[in-house]
Amino acid sequence: MSVGAGAAPLSAATIGRSSLSQQPLPWKDDALAPVISAETISFHYGKHHAAYFNALAGLVKDTPMADASLEEIILAVAGDPSKKAIFNNAAQAWNHTFYWASLTPDKTAPEGKLLAAIERDFGSVDALKAELIKVTTGQFGSGWGWLVSDAGTLKVVSTAAADVPFTQGMKPLLTVDVWEHAYYLDYQNRRPDYVKALVNDHLDWRFAAANYA
Ligand code: FE2
Repeated sequence: MSVGAGAAPLSAATIGRSSLSQQPLPWKDDALAPVISAETISFHYGKHHAAYFNALAGLVKDTPMADASLEEIILAVAGDPSKKAIFNNAAQAWNHTFYWASLTPDKTAPEGKLLAAIERDFGSVDALKAELIKVTTGQFGSGWGWLVSDAGTLKVVSTAAADVPFTQGMKPLLTVDVWEHAYYLDYQNRRPDYVKALVNDHLDWRFAAANYA
């Protein structure tokens, strides 16, 4: 199954107005192995992520939201119980696109303004990574761990289910998916091992810097 290997990398600009169609992955499906296997990617991107787009398309068909961006839909329906299905599918479509862009097979590290902000707000990159691992691993049930900018201050937060930080005014810089479908084929119940490996080896700090800029 093709998962869009070789497509142009996502960027912060792409994330700003996300299409209601699933975009190609920014790397080959085996590029993150052994931390994330091609089999996990085939289900996670090819089945779970695709299903959120398909469900959303059905929900917004023939409504004004059919021509909106994911961000516009998420902000329009957040907190409205009657639109919960639209929110969940739009937010999960967005979260996963942001997650793929948060990951890279390349070795990267925070630099420049982002590094200075990390040292200001966490003390060191290692301290930030430890906090991100702790908070993400500790998310109860399905959800997401995030590095965010909250009015310029860097913070680590987690969200439950499909929730996104930008509905609360926080700007996401990086995310880690801790729904079981993200790691169960490779790690079974060992969520901490998955989170540690991902945070230490595969976060794309160039993407974080572009989002922070
Ligand atoms: Fe996921």
